[in-house]
Amino acid sequence: MTVHFIGAGPGAADLITVRGRSLIERCPVCLYAGSIVPPEILSWCPPGVRLVDTAPLNLDAITAEFVRAYEADEDVARLHSGDLSIWSAMGEQLRRLKALGISYTITPGVPSFAAAAAALGRELTVPELGQSLVLTRTSGRASAMPEAERLATFAQTKATLAIHLSIHVIEQVVEDLLPAYGGDCPAAVVWRASWPDERVIKGTLETIAAMARAERLERTALILVGRTLDAGDFRDSALYSADYDRRFRPGARKDSL
Ligand SMILES: C[S@@+](CC[C@H](N)C(=O)[O-])C[C@H]1O[C@@H](n2cnc3c(N)ncnc32)[C@H](O)[C@@H]1O
Repeated sequence: MTVHFIGAGPGAADLITVRGRSLIERCPVCLYAGSIVPPEILSWCPPGVRLVDTAPLNLDAITAEFVRAYEADEDVARLHSGDLSIWSAMGEQLRRLKALGISYTITPGVPSFAAAAAALGRELTVPELGQSLVLTRTSGRASAMPEAERLATFAQTKATLAIHLSIHVIEQVVEDLLPAYGGDCPAAVVWRASWPDERVIKGTLETIAAMARAERLERTALILVGRTLDAGDFRDSALYSADYDRRFRPGARKDSL
């Protein structure tokens, strides 16, 4: 018996890996994280599946589901939204499974920042303008930010930021970033990226908070900030440059990245 953790993607049911889908199709038990996992994905479960919404459960109750499946020798598909490596609460479940000696696998998913970038029609790394993307959040009721990871600190790098779990405090986000990025810095909010009702708002640090409030965007939204968001006049990358010597396109210069 194995518990298979599966990143279910950002919203659109077909933004899941082939491996994730086949695991769902063959596991007799499926634990999923409430309304953030699209219903179509649940329809791939086999007939007679034990389907458990974990939204109202605490960690002990979820662990009890794992133990029940272990005793019945039934594999479990454990679904979380987006990818499992960020804000999935998978870590604490893995710790419980390790302590119980129950085996598990991990199948990654499409994270929401990637779906948001697609909705914006943007590459988030741009030659010479921005080469780093910071995935971060602000302090929440349940989890304070480590002292060294404050938004104002990241702002000093001027890297592109993808700020999760923070749409409700967008005014504070703007206030923290304004001194370093400036009011004219491009900013965007992508709400429910890849869902049928997805919404995209593009503005600047100066305008974005009022725009998001006017549209009443709440909960499942990402705030993106950085000069890469409206970059137009940037140089081509070395990757496809005619005089850049690559292993499979030899014959040009011997530069390296
Ligand atoms: C608990 S975190 C889960 C992150 C997820 N594991 C991932 O890979 O993106 C939830 C936050 O992710 C962001 N998020 C998740 N899905 C989203 C989507 N479809 N569109 C925009 N933001 C999303 C929002 O900031 C939301 O508050």
